[in-house]
Amino acid sequence: MAMLASGNGSNVENFIHYFSEHPYIEVGLVVSNNPEALVLEKANRKGIPHILIRNEQWGNESFVKGIFSERDIDYVVLAGFLRLVPVFFIDIYPGKIVNIHPALLPKFGGKGMYGARVHQAVIQAKEKQSGITIHQVTEQYDEGPVLFQQSIPVDPEETPSTLAQKIQALEHHHFPVVVEQHIARLWNLPRQS
Ligand code: GRF
Repeated sequence: MAMLASGNGSNVENFIHYFSEHPYIEVGLVVSNNPEALVLEKANRKGIPHILIRNEQWGNESFVKGIFSERDIDYVVLAGFLRLVPVFFIDIYPGKIVNIHPALLPKFGGKGMYGARVHQAVIQAKEKQSGITIHQVTEQYDEGPVLFQQSIPVDPEETPSTLAQKIQALEHHHFPVVVEQHIARLWNLPRQS
């Protein structure tokens, strides 16, 4: 699989660790659109092939296709990737691109809803619950069939940062497992978890 991320990359790091001994799943490529992204350093440190595809390069179909086909990528995971993937890219991987969102979609999703802004909005709206959503990727931000959701209570004294910590723990716990099960289903392979 390839993982696309724009920032810190804690989920990418978690996947690299989780799948390090897996019989048929491997993080074979880390891609970022952000030259400053910590995720590129993390991939470098772990010895995982990584590449920067700048925002303006995503429109170059043959260039993008070349990068993914060269590395035999079959499946794509978005983990904090802050731009839309082009339609031609979705067509290469039909039903095989997933994203994680740090709230219970369809609420608190869409363009500009990422990071602390999501948690802030949840708290402001006085939601009793938040959580994570893992879904297939379509041409719109944070839409597409939901594969998995898990909720947690939002405490009355919650701040965006305490909520972020809880959500991150939830992501690290569930995301690789959900992806592993999805891949096993898609290719009719035995599940390890
Ligand atoms: C996660 O909260 C994920 O839900 C969202 O972006 C964040 C990425 O975090 N899409 P990290 O870079 O993996 O730490």
